[in-house]
Amino acid sequence: MPAFAAAPLEPPLSDPANFATRLLAWHRIAGRHDLPWQGGCDPYRIWLSEIMLQQTQVDTVIPYYQRFLDRCPDLASLAAAPVEDVLGLWSGLGYYARARNLHRCAQVLVAEHGGRFPQAPEALAGLPGIGRSTAAAIAAFAFGVRAAILDGNVKRVLCRVFGIEGDPGHRAVEMRLWRLAESLLPASEIGSYIQAQMDLGATLCTRGLPACGRCPLAEICVARREGLQASLPTPRARKLRPRRSSRVAVLCHAGAVLLQRRPLVGLWGGLLTLPEIPADELSVTWAARTLGLSVSPGPQLPPVDHAFTHFQLQILPELLSLTAQLPQPGVPPGGEFAWQPLADLGPAALPAPVRRILKNLPGRA
Ligand code: ADE
Repeated sequence: MPAFAAAPLEPPLSDPANFATRLLAWHRIAGRHDLPWQGGCDPYRIWLSEIMLQQTQVDTVIPYYQRFLDRCPDLASLAAAPVEDVLGLWSGLGYYARARNLHRCAQVLVAEHGGRFPQAPEALAGLPGIGRSTAAAIAAFAFGVRAAILDGNVKRVLCRVFGIEGDPGHRAVEMRLWRLAESLLPASEIGSYIQAQMDLGATLCTRGLPACGRCPLAEICVARREGLQASLPTPRARKLRPRRSSRVAVLCHAGAVLLQRRPLVGLWGGLLTLPEIPADELSVTWAARTLGLSVSPGPQLPPVDHAFTHFQLQILPELLSLTAQLPQPGVPPGGEFAWQPLADLGPAALPAPVRRILKNLPGRA
């Protein structure tokens, strides 16, 4: 060998083919292949799964996904369903804007796209509730389009493997990660590659205790080499969530509880919640004024905490009892209130903490 000839080089750490090839080989033997939304390319089913999986784990999603498909098996049936039914099917999954957007998206597709999904990620990303990463996942799984995803799991994997510092939620870091994700795409097998990235982030390259010993990228991973698994990705600067509290009435009568439908826009939009009692009002006065009902106050029930994205809510339930027969007919007035049978809470569109309060009512546990 001439003296000036360089020794054979290791593939560069960021060699795209190397990254994708390792992932694909691993996925063939260790990836997930039998999830309910895999094995077909119906964009409706793929879209539904991707929306449900946006903020929710696979194990939680599976029963919701199957129940949803039983009730709304295709785009047309979803577009025609009342939004209250869609929220009911979503009840317990949280982040209800996803359900409202899902319904609106189905209606837009039926009204403006002939009931068909566009194939281009850019067009998908213009639809309600579909961001850039979800659009790419749908396009890749349903239509084989070569497009990059960048969800939380993929950000974590890329930051670790390529030693990228800085909060991935910051725009400059995020743009850098998008460019990197696009540069890594394999020439073929795009669906398997996207699924492999999701599976690696969910099963091995986890936030807490990554299983580097079993990781197909361990040999090329900067975080692994330098012991930076715990500090990459750079944690977001913690903001304290403000705390709020809300008094709610638990008023039962003849095996039913009084619920209030929230306006479609805003917190828990369109869901059924326990009626809120203003902070500065006696429950008795409030019930007479708002509901036209005569009640007596009972004990406070245990508070329930619920974390929203931007604040922490403490719900303070107050048990009330009717002191007079319901005036007839249809009391309380106003379409927003309804008596919901306690034996039939299953399909009701209740936020999880309201469901928890009702499940634990004295005498119901
Ligand atoms: N998370 C988001 N999309 C997913 C998918 N298709 N499979 C598993 N987890 C996911």
